[in-house]
Amino acid sequence: MKNIVILISGSGSNMAAIIRAAQKERWAERFGARVAAVISNKADAQGLAIAREHGIATAVVSHKDFSTREDFDAALASAIDVHAPTLVVLAGFMRILTPGFVTRYERRLLNIHPSLLPAFPGLHTHRRAIEAGCRVAGVTVHEVTVELDHGPILAQAAVPVLADDTEETLAARVLAQEHRVYPQAIAGWLLETN
Ligand code: GAR
Repeated sequence: MKNIVILISGSGSNMAAIIRAAQKERWAERFGARVAAVISNKADAQGLAIAREHGIATAVVSHKDFSTREDFDAALASAIDVHAPTLVVLAGFMRILTPGFVTRYERRLLNIHPSLLPAFPGLHTHRRAIEAGCRVAGVTVHEVTVELDHGPILAQAAVPVLADDTEETLAARVLAQEHRVYPQAIAGWLLETN
């Protein structure tokens, strides 16, 4: 079985969309793949409860317990490797990862970023898109490389930016697309690596 490990920091709505797609689209039968574990750097991440409700193993590795990024990433990698992952999926995981971590999971580490990369890497993507006067915004699923929010693009979806948009209304429109494209991109990745 190909194990997928999902890393989250918060609400976990992308994680939930991936879990739902895996069940509905029978990833176990079609790709021999399953979501094996969800790991968070925050103990109060709401997504952890959702994962448990689905009978998925969960773990917490708090970045606050470590004084360096390297030590945190080493502990995180240990928690991930318990599940012998074929694929590691960042789904709203809000920590910058060290080059050592990224290299360890090279070619099998995916991220979703709420902008049309290469535009707006980093934080506050929706606010920046509105401030820049963009007429379209969107989401990117990409392979993680050592450079933050770069790496080969697997999927993108665009949405309009409306005249009266706030950061919140634009984020909600983009998030709806995230829930569609991330499971699709992962299914495509699993098919290709079959
Ligand atoms: C999503 O919008 C995701 O694209 C973003 O955080 C949100 C997490 O929501 N990720 C980043 O900004 C990564 N730099 P979720 O926890 O409900 O999936």
